[in-house]
Amino acid sequence: MKSRTILSVVASAFVQEVLSAALGKAPKFATVVSPRDVADTEYDFIIAGGGISGLTVADRLTEDPSINVLVIETGGFDQNEDFVLVPGSFFPVPYMWLPLLSVPQPALNNKVFNIPAGKVVGGGSVVNGMVYVRPSKEELKAWELLGATGWDWNDLLPYYKKSETFTPPDPAFAAAANFSFDPSVHGTSGPVKASFPNFYFEGSRNWFQAAISSGLKAAGDPMAGDATGVIFIPSVVNGETRTRSHARISHYTPVQSRPNYHILDSHTVSKVLFNAQKKAIGVEYLPTAGGQTLTAHAKKEVLLAAGAIHTPQILQLSGVGPKKLLEKFSIPVVADLPGVGANFHDQPSIIIPYNVTNNIHPNVGTLNEDPAYDAAQRALYDTSKTGPYVLTRGLSSNLALPPLCKTTSKCHSILASAALTNPFKYLPEATHPTVKAGYALQRSMILGQLAGDKVPVSMIHWDTANSVRMYFFKPLSRGTVQIGSTDPRQTPLIDPRTNSDPVDEELILASFLKNREIMNQPTMAVLNPLEAAPFSNSVTDEAQLKRILAEVAEPSSAHQCCTAAMMPKLLGGVVDSKMRVYDVSGLRVIDTSFWPMVLTAAPTATTYASGEKIADAIKAAYGLL
Ligand SMILES: Cc1cc2nc3c(=O)[nH]c(=O)nc-3n(C[C@H](O)[C@H](O)[C@H](O)COP(=O)(O)OP(=O)(O)OC[C@H]3O[C@@H](n4cnc5c(N)ncnc54)[C@H](O)[C@@H]3O)c2cc1C
Ligand SMILES: *[C@@H]1O[C@H](CO)[C@@H](O)[C@H](O)[C@H]1NC(C)=O
Ligand SMILES: *[C@@H]1O[C@H](CO)[C@@H](O)[C@H](O)[C@H]1NC(C)=O
Repeated sequence: MKSRTILSVVASAFVQEVLSAALGKAPKFATVVSPRDVADTEYDFIIAGGGISGLTVADRLTEDPSINVLVIETGGFDQNEDFVLVPGSFFPVPYMWLPLLSVPQPALNNKVFNIPAGKVVGGGSVVNGMVYVRPSKEELKAWELLGATGWDWNDLLPYYKKSETFTPPDPAFAAAANFSFDPSVHGTSGPVKASFPNFYFEGSRNWFQAAISSGLKAAGDPMAGDATGVIFIPSVVNGETRTRSHARISHYTPVQSRPNYHILDSHTVSKVLFNAQKKAIGVEYLPTAGGQTLTAHAKKEVLLAAGAIHTPQILQLSGVGPKKLLEKFSIPVVADLPGVGANFHDQPSIIIPYNVTNNIHPNVGTLNEDPAYDAAQRALYDTSKTGPYVLTRGLSSNLALPPLCKTTSKCHSILASAALTNPFKYLPEATHPTVKAGYALQRSMILGQLAGDKVPVSMIHWDTANSVRMYFFKPLSRGTVQIGSTDPRQTPLIDPRTNSDPVDEELILASFLKNREIMNQPTMAVLNPLEAAPFSNSVTDEAQLKRILAEVAEPSSAHQCCTAAMMPKLLGGVVDSKMRVYDVSGLRVIDTSFWPMVLTAAPTATTYASGEKIADAIKAAYGLL
């Protein structure tokens, strides 16, 4: 805010409030608004989607009392249920998009999959697994080389720190659990509360030791820019209360009395409106349950934060996307951007069921099998904030993140043959030449990362009971998100094209065999973990294993991204390094759609940090506080 003092702004806001209250207009405090309030307000910024990115940016922009912001969110508000707040009571299914179905996946036996995503004020942060990690420095370097200028590790670190308040672990506990804490990379006063759990199951020791004896290193602080090794899992959990810290709690609830911060929940943005100069001037929206289409006006900008599935849908419905697709639906072309909805990827995952016949008890399974144990642990959590309930239900405390060459001795031959393949061979047939050019660069960078020891190929998690879950971090396959109808309430055609590039099958197989190696180390072998159907330890034939892996693989780890990439237009990019959509004005994409390539890490930490960074960029552009 430039000329007026805060006091006079507050005073004039107060006068306006009294006036508008008298006229029956805007609500007294900000706040949850109705379409009627929206119709009576001229907003500076309208944000489509109230997830991690949307709420982070809305919070920061409304720090300036002269700026008013409307967030429109498809979902409603959570009610502080245990299944949202208490890690041991996780899983908030009611706040997800269900169903959000993919198209049939040819490389996965033509099956259709649900694509997990949050649909609630707070978005993914209300429903996610609370794993809170950052990528390797190398991966952000690759973003920069792809054209995301100013998004290197050193650029993002101040924003990672700004976004969080990290409660340091008890040093004796950290030493016993084999991890360390580097205060120089953590924040002490940000809105998002994060911590390390203060509990692990005994079986985690066996697994940790096994992962180490399989050749992996113990990671130090997993958030310091090297994402490889065996880590103790940091979580987006408040270190004092041991409850989930999600975006509604960190970026809305504490500031909801700001009269300039409005949320319209249970409404869906259907379209961005442009004027004749192709400047975004507002949005069309409708009740999520169906009903009349309404409009809202933005004086400065429209910011898209609807997530990597729905942001490209909104762009395409608005006439910003591949010309051919828009013409197919008779949508007037505002900007022909072939990259909108291209470059879609996520991280495929599998679950390997086990029968651990000589396991250590209690383990995570005991919570489900023994109601008395479960009740006692819940009581321990309520009174002392420790025990299994501090861990996300179903998760243990450790993850292994091996680089490819610590995963398989075949790493160089896999990479050499991948490098000899025509990079365009497995892209969708009609891929635009600019998108192809961007992909060719991405592919060579991924192969480079996989040849080194700084970027993991996968993530391995044993839950301490009967299940291993694996995540495949570096897929070469690329999918698409395209409208299949002009009805904004219809799910777009989501095509992850998982394993369309056969190199991905090799990477999955190598990672699977690495898990076997870990399970065969002495400290795990004593527990006698037996692979259960459809796997079996007796199956060693690689072709047969690939068939089983295709049977169990899922396209998603809920890490969807990259459908409006921050790359040059000539490389199929959609936004510039300030997240501004090419060929139009007043429009940015601020959610994980802007990522050029998926990162090793689960997205949350980087999404909060990028929200902070873009809020600063927008403030600078308008000379705000
Ligand atoms: C089940 C699950 C588990 C996960 N586990 C982890 C984890 O452990 N660690 C981690 O780091 N990440 C995890 N993630 C991923 C992480 O939560 C997401 O990557 C992150 O939330 C993405 O942030 P975003 O701002 O891009 O989108 P989101 O947070 O998804 O927000 C997008 C919002 O936009 C809304 N929206 C969509 N379309 C419209 C529209 N047309 N109009 C208005 N609003 C709209 C959606 O309802 C949603 O609330 C998980 C996600 C899920 C679903
Ligand atoms: C930490 O490492 C030591 C030595 O490798 C091992 O004995 C111990 O069990 C580990 N602790 C945990 C919690 O993994
Ligand atoms: C697990 O293995 C034990 C011992 O071999 C066997 O008795 C039991 O039936 C198996 N359980 C399952 C679920 O396969």
